Amino acid sequence: SGRYGLVVVANRLPVDLTVEDDGSTSWRRSPGGLVSALEPVMQAADGAWVGWAGSPDVEADAFDGDGMRLVPVALSADEVRDYYEGFSNDTLWPLYHDVISPPEFHRRWWDAYRRVNRRFAEAAADQAAEGATVWVQDYQLQLVPALLRDLRPDLRIGYFHHIPFPPLEIFAQLPWRRQVVEGLLGADLIGFQRAGDASNFVRVVRRLTDLSTKGQVITVPGTEETAARTVRAAAFPISIDSARFDAMARTEAVRARAREIRRDLGDPSVLLLGVDRLDYTKGIRHRIKAFGELLEEGRLAVPEAALVQVASPSRENVEAYQQLRDEVETLVGRINGEHGQIGSAAIYYMHHSYPPEEMAALYLAADVMLVTALRDGMNLVAKEFVAACTDDRGVLVLSEFAGAADELAGSLLVNPHDIDGLKDAIERAVTMEPREMRRRMRKLRRRVLEDDVTKWSRTFLDALALRPGQSPGAVM
Ligand code: G6P
Repeated sequence: SGRYGLVVVANRLPVDLTVEDDGSTSWRRSPGGLVSALEPVMQAADGAWVGWAGSPDVEADAFDGDGMRLVPVALSADEVRDYYEGFSNDTLWPLYHDVISPPEFHRRWWDAYRRVNRRFAEAAADQAAEGATVWVQDYQLQLVPALLRDLRPDLRIGYFHHIPFPPLEIFAQLPWRRQVVEGLLGADLIGFQRAGDASNFVRVVRRLTDLSTKGQVITVPGTEETAARTVRAAAFPISIDSARFDAMARTEAVRARAREIRRDLGDPSVLLLGVDRLDYTKGIRHRIKAFGELLEEGRLAVPEAALVQVASPSRENVEAYQQLRDEVETLVGRINGEHGQIGSAAIYYMHHSYPPEEMAALYLAADVMLVTALRDGMNLVAKEFVAACTDDRGVLVLSEFAGAADELAGSLLVNPHDIDGLKDAIERAVTMEPREMRRRMRKLRRRVLEDDVTKWSRTFLDALALRPGQSPGAVM
């Protein structure tokens, strides 16, 4: 066994090895909410992080970096195609997000998923000290808990599911549904974003296995060598490093940059903002459509109103993402062609990602943040926006289909499929009285600053450390 008392296993490392145009390589921060949530936790913990470096065929040794031990797991080009782009992002991702895009089921992808999950389990087993805690992350690695338990029965194993867990009727489409459930049940504690995700999972266990369940506790009978054990499923809504965003948004550099952004946009009186990975779950088209119709109807006008849409590149080899990009870019072009003027566009569309300081400046500059996901595990962008609104100015329009909707009372909740309702909410946000805006934003900020990512990880890890029969009071 290895020497780490806490090992995180995630598909991605917090840094990606990227190949520059001149052929040289460098480590860059990885995209997505999982990494931004776990990075500060691990930096504080002196643990090891097992993950993929983001490009095929990287055979790098483990190294110390980013405030922790980084342990790269190599994937071949075929495995990137079949395990990552295929099974993870063209089977599980759409299946778990309400089949917004049709999932593809291919046996070759499943074989790769199994093989790669085994490799991650072995790498984690190598790093973990005797009796260590291993925390497995997300849908790409659902088989790791059981594989790891076989290799290392001494470990305490947690799993956190960052994306939605679908209703039985959808999950049951998966040809390998039983193996996936058994993989997850290798964990001692299975965390979900929303209470609804946890109850979907327990219902799946009840219907697809013959295990006995009591509330959210599932009993797995013992074998000749192992004792019976219990697995608990529960909600642990994830968060961000709120204090960091708050502090960043108070620096003079970020505040000056926010003023500069507004000036460069021609000082609009209404600045709307969308920030997403370019993903079909995010409702980007619905949002842009609503904005276009508001311009069309004269309820908003250029140059007083502008929409900034940051769409960071994501999963660009998967066809559904290429198609979405074409659709979004056609729509943006059409609306800008219709309503833009020389010197002022209707929509400023950026297919880039930016460092956190620039994001904080954008959040601070915006009047209204539009989070219109059709389905989203949590949506950390909504929380980042709130944490950056240090002057209590700003309105959050939030989809009820994002996990954040369970927590962020104070936002204007919308059903993004209802374009008229979305337009009304945007108009309401834009015309909101400053007093109401401040009252709502203060409420949001109290919640986000209080329930930060450190509290999330501590709550999860404390619950994982609890043995059955122990009362929560026994945990320090
Ligand atoms: C979501 C998922 C993460 C994933 C991230 C970025 O946040 O829950 O597991 O890492 O998207 O996606 P990518 O495919 O680039 O890792």
